[in-house]
Amino acid sequence: MSDHHGKPPTTVGQFIIATLGGLFAPGLVIFMIVKMVMGIQNGHPQDQDAAAAEKTVVERIKPVGEVALKDASAGPAAAKSGEQVFNEVCIACHGTGALGSPKFGDSGAWGPRISQGYDTLVKHALAGIRAMPARGGNPDLSDIEVAGAVAYMANKAGANFKAPEAPKAEAAPAAAEPAKK
Ligand code: HEC
Repeated sequence: MSDHHGKPPTTVGQFIIATLGGLFAPGLVIFMIVKMVMGIQNGHPQDQDAAAAEKTVVERIKPVGEVALKDASAGPAAAKSGEQVFNEVCIACHGTGALGSPKFGDSGAWGPRISQGYDTLVKHALAGIRAMPARGGNPDLSDIEVAGAVAYMANKAGANFKAPEAPKAEAAPAAAEPAKK
């Protein structure tokens, strides 16, 4: 007895359609976001590969230049501060006063030595004196490094010596050259 094709949608039917539609739309958005993220993730390894490849190439090229640089600046770059030299070498004896050496920071022991003057102390440190080995036993130390360590130790025991500045760039290689020829 009805002219209508089927019944007009019930509220339940509307609800279901609305719900399905409501789920579908966000679902589509989520799907697209996931696709996008995966696309980004897929893209990244390639970027990293490219960056890594570039790094590898740069690293392969680099050592040649580095070696040359190190050679060119070996003298000044290697110059250690008086404190460094003391901590690496002189401390072995002067840290404790071993072998009758003037102990670090002991102004009583250093006083008479300091009164000899900085130049004399440096000369003795370079050449050695009695139980004090030349350059503290480390022939690799430069004059300036030894002089710096002398100033560092003496100053900690009351002196006011001014250590020679390590010459930048030129002086050290120039000084080393005549020895090589
Ligand atoms: C193997 C132990 C030893 C080491 C390492 C050592 N010294 Fe000495 N040093 C001595 C002794 C021992 C004396 C005391 C020598 C003496 O007057 O009989 C001395 C004395 C000195 C003096 C005083 C010299 C003088 O004319 O009175 C200076 C300066 C000095 N050392 C500097 C250094 C410096 C700088 C270093 C590190 C680069 C160093 N020493 C490392 C043992 C050492």
